[in-house]
Amino acid sequence: MDKLSNQDKGDINLYKAIFSRRELTDLPEYFNCVSDLLDSSEVQQLGGFAHHKSTTRLQHSLNVSYYNYLICRKLHLDARSAARAGLLHDLFLYDRKEHERVDGEGWHGVGHPKIAFFNAVELFPLNDRETDMIVNHMFPVTPHLPRYRETWIIQFVDKFCALGELSQLAARSGKRGMRLAGAFSLGLLVRLTLRF
Ligand SMILES: [Fe+2]
Ligand SMILES: [Fe+2]
Repeated sequence: MDKLSNQDKGDINLYKAIFSRRELTDLPEYFNCVSDLLDSSEVQQLGGFAHHKSTTRLQHSLNVSYYNYLICRKLHLDARSAARAGLLHDLFLYDRKEHERVDGEGWHGVGHPKIAFFNAVELFPLNDRETDMIVNHMFPVTPHLPRYRETWIIQFVDKFCALGELSQLAARSGKRGMRLAGAFSLGLLVRLTLRF
């Protein structure tokens, strides 16, 4: 694990995955996988963009990274790549509504995985699994079948985290259906990760 200053530790300790009581640094084997990514200003800038109306893009990316890691580790898959791809899978630094209006690139759900990939590969070396997880995390919205089991997992984790994040918004606004959807996603994530 890289050495961190007390200030760094304090900043990073602010991060917890959704529904988790653990600080990231409480699980050093996970933190080791992503600490260099968290040091980059581009990843930090994700904290400046709203995501799913209830959280930031950095928090969402951490949620996906953390649960993707835990599930892939449980299944004896490439957990390190799962953690790294999770943190990079939505690496786009713009407000999505503004971007669509200005550039006319069509529906954001289809286009953003490739944008995230091009941004990520300029900053970090990516292996084949990480590339596939980033480019195909929106399947079946995007047409290409995932090539790796880790990619099948991240596309589920991404959707369950989105549900969980929306449930937080629903809890604040009193929408019962969305709260139930969030409770379902919470239950599933907890069941999947309880024994780690
Ligand atoms: Fe995405
Ligand atoms: Fe996402």
